[in-house]
Amino acid sequence: MKALILSGGKGTRLYPITYTSAKQLVPVANRPVLFRAIDAIVEAGITDIGIVVGDTAPEIKAAVGDGSEWGAKVTYIQQEAPLGLAHAVLISEHYLGNDRFVMFLGDNVLEGGIADLVTQFAEGDWNSQIVLTRVNNPQHFGVAELRNGQVVRLVEKPKEPPSDLALVGIYMFDRNIFEAVKNIKPSWRGELEITDAIQYLVDHGYKVYPYVHEGWWIDTGKPGDMLDCNRLLLETIESHNLGTVDEKSSLSGRVIIQKGAEIINSTIRGPAIIGENSRIVDAYIGPFTAIFHDVLIENSEIEHCIVLENCKITDIGTRIEDSVIGRNVEITRSPLRPKAYRMMIGDNSQIGIL
Ligand code: G1P
Repeated sequence: MKALILSGGKGTRLYPITYTSAKQLVPVANRPVLFRAIDAIVEAGITDIGIVVGDTAPEIKAAVGDGSEWGAKVTYIQQEAPLGLAHAVLISEHYLGNDRFVMFLGDNVLEGGIADLVTQFAEGDWNSQIVLTRVNNPQHFGVAELRNGQVVRLVEKPKEPPSDLALVGIYMFDRNIFEAVKNIKPSWRGELEITDAIQYLVDHGYKVYPYVHEGWWIDTGKPGDMLDCNRLLLETIESHNLGTVDEKSSLSGRVIIQKGAEIINSTIRGPAIIGENSRIVDAYIGPFTAIFHDVLIENSEIEHCIVLENCKITDIGTRIEDSVIGRNVEITRSPLRPKAYRMMIGDNSQIGIL
């Protein structure tokens, strides 16, 4: 089997973080979501991986390279414009050939990986396998209607959802999907929808198997979901320490200290992860916090946050919570008079002040 990862989107729903970085490369629990997708695919025994890229291609290629870091072979497929998930399949026909394949949206994270799903599909005679999960807000997703365990209808972002079973961004197909993607028309949002292509398979008598996933699943493409995903992943970590922790510091719960990180006179309450060469000085790091590489947190308290590389957070008197802080951000106390907030903030930022 082959794998096709879709990594073309711009990530507009995650501005301002994605002004300067592809959404699939934003680290969650200190590992980019796209790397986690590749991990899951390789763990399922697939090493021939195509990645569909768009405007952020240079950045994605620089981060993933030829895939040798995973023992995989990566082929890049350029999508000229974001014309839909089914369009991405259409332009990948040459790469995929006659192989059965798993398609993985590069911003999705699924609890437990995909090894069992892939084995099931590789051994079965289904033309397609879709992954579904129950959600509270089905109108934001593709939704499936099942009857007697069979898929009868699929609708993309329905105003009146026929069920609460959302299509998770992981799909499996054989080569009949190419007939489907060539025969559907763009939707109201101008995209060739994979949901419509699967409906075509159902309507033309192909076998589409609905697999209902019981664990968690997060599409990190939306704000808020990023912090949820970070929390869920941190709940699964095992402690280890590759940095240094001085005698005046205390660590409790599961905490990962990455290479070269220093913890000085601080309290860290896990689950939490501190990135390479970051320094935590006279500070408190609370549960569900991921501090990425080369960060300084000094004389401040922070909890349930994602902090990206090279940030400096110093002398903040109030605890920082529920925040995603982008690269190279400085948050500090200003000694200048008059006493005032002084900011240099990118477009579409959100700030909550006490
Ligand atoms: C896409 C699919 C949708 C699916 C979702 C999963 O939506 O069109 O059917 O439920 O991914 O993440 P999009 O993220 O393009 O809005």
